[in-house]
Amino acid sequence: MSNGRESDTPEQAAESSGRRPPTSFVEQANAADESIYETFETTWPDCWEAAAARLAWDESYDTVLSGDGPPFEWFAGGTLNASYNCLDRHLEAGGKNRVAIKWESRTGDTRVYTYQDLSREVNEFAAGLRELGVEEDDVVTLYMPNIPELPIAMLACARIGAPHNVVFAGLSADALATRLESAESNYLVTCDGYYRRGNPVLLKRKADDARLSVDHDIRETVVVDRLDGDTHLGETQHDYHELVERHAGAAVDPVERAANDCLFLIHTSGTTGEPKKVKHTTGGYLAHVAWTTETVLDLGPADTYLSTANIGWISGHSYVVYGPLAVGSTVVMYEGAPDYPEKDRLWNLVESNAVDVFYTAPTVIRSFMKWGSEYPAAHDLSSLRLLGTVGEPINPRAWEWYHEHVGGGRCPIVDTWWQTETGGMMVTTLPGVDEMKPGSVGRPLPGIDAQVVDASGSECGPNEPGYLVVRRPWPGMPHALLDGTRWADGQSVPADIDGWFYFTGDGARRDDDGYITVLGRVDDVINVSGHRLGTMEVESAIVDVDHVVEAAVVSIDDPQAEGIYAYVTVEADVTGDDATRKRIEDRVRERIGPIAIPEEIVFTPDLPKTRSGKIMRRFLENITNGEDFGDTSTLRNPEVVGELESIVRNRT
Ligand code: WTA
Repeated sequence: MSNGRESDTPEQAAESSGRRPPTSFVEQANAADESIYETFETTWPDCWEAAAARLAWDESYDTVLSGDGPPFEWFAGGTLNASYNCLDRHLEAGGKNRVAIKWESRTGDTRVYTYQDLSREVNEFAAGLRELGVEEDDVVTLYMPNIPELPIAMLACARIGAPHNVVFAGLSADALATRLESAESNYLVTCDGYYRRGNPVLLKRKADDARLSVDHDIRETVVVDRLDGDTHLGETQHDYHELVERHAGAAVDPVERAANDCLFLIHTSGTTGEPKKVKHTTGGYLAHVAWTTETVLDLGPADTYLSTANIGWISGHSYVVYGPLAVGSTVVMYEGAPDYPEKDRLWNLVESNAVDVFYTAPTVIRSFMKWGSEYPAAHDLSSLRLLGTVGEPINPRAWEWYHEHVGGGRCPIVDTWWQTETGGMMVTTLPGVDEMKPGSVGRPLPGIDAQVVDASGSECGPNEPGYLVVRRPWPGMPHALLDGTRWADGQSVPADIDGWFYFTGDGARRDDDGYITVLGRVDDVINVSGHRLGTMEVESAIVDVDHVVEAAVVSIDDPQAEGIYAYVTVEADVTGDDATRKRIEDRVRERIGPIAIPEEIVFTPDLPKTRSGKIMRRFLENITNGEDFGDTSTLRNPEVVGELESIVRNRT
């Protein structure tokens, strides 16, 4: 192992124990000057010019940030095009034959797109979208797995100023329909199907079901042929490859978009039963993700990068597509699962592509740990320079495993806290500047004012748990926050902060060095195996089943047994049995998708409730995770807690 460095100074000792990035990393890091924190602080908001300078602007902006309170505007007066920034300017700078995307299918064959190739197909598909009638500001919904046509379609939309609305391919037809409606989208791009762990998933069938249940007209649908079979296309359905061929060699001028214009919509789970629609800007968002890709992921044009994120979620939008392509890196993409066909698939990809930077989520790291260190050990991972993680808190044991078995004790790890709503990274470490503390994400990035406060908005003392809030605007903020239209949910606690702030929905604490440890969601959103789900979404699917009266879901807080526990009450004269369980599972699959199916369904005559009838999910969390539940005297039915505890204990 390469961390067996001789160490005689305390600094070197810290370095060899892995807390401080190695000198060899610092020497080459894109951001290595610690004065960056102070510079950003004293020059805020103008400091964000550093991010805007990463982009090519058609018209330069007049002001960095306008507005003392909402409405805010980042880079007002500036115009740009995101696809130009991810493609054309690299061609102009001599990068045309550099690889932009290298994609490996689930069967192991690869497709390589240079920046020139990618640009060509993006232009052709952009011309195809225009032929179908897509105009600037029309929303195009993309329902596809991780295949190259997905980033191509995203960039084609960006090129013509049509916001895309990507829906994760694992979501159900119902979920797609809701998102088509919420986005008022008349155009859909999908594929015939794909394989997941060797089983075909017929995506077009789901897309057809969704189209039928949408209230408005889906004017045109484009279908990518992924399974090489015969796909029956309806009257308003078009074969992707034919469409692209019809426009072979087309050149579509990138549409000039105002900085504040929408680049894309994405839906995520909130605290209501409905998906939360998040709209990101072109200028602020792209500046934020390009700058963080460069400073936190330390990527540049010479680097090859692999992320396990699915493009259907925000982590794939920001740090598979827009950030890495904006800085001109080579992105390795793969289709399918990290353990199919073999558990060393990712290490194979790292070795064969000499990947420099690898970004994943704690849930994936926990799977790696379960599978065993022999899989990474069987490969030469010495090309890796930096590792990253996102999505949920990483426990120190998983951090150490990742550091040792993947990073060879040599690579710094960036634990990056951010959200669909923030667009890009907010709290983490700059790997060329900061020490790492396993389990703690780090400090707010330069220019970001993230703070831990109590319910009255006062800053919490060191190590005191509180709410994580952001008190100053940041470039990647979405339209709803720019406009000051507070989202109905997630904004109520803490209530009394003076001035503008954004409440993230997370609990956190901050140590003496200002490092933030994220404690998880404190609102009605749960994080299950890296997927963000609203408790209400899942509960309303469950109570939709005949004879179910009430349901409450909580997440299992155990790295070895991730998932959802559902507590369900059925009508008095009905017994909850396996058939009911099956109906519940089917309904959840149909309404949301397989990711939301509960691991355990516990039938109970009653749920713990306050005197006013509110379900106290906290007690259910304690019961599920075998924790003390403390004072139950505020409950109307305290005896239920003890009963449920014995049911759950007897099951495990
Ligand atoms: C959680 C994913 C701890 C958090 C990019 C947040 C994290 C939610 C971390 C957003 C991290 C994200 N440590 N928790 N490094 N990163 N989270 O919108 O609860 O899918 O609010 O965005 O994930 O999830 P989302």
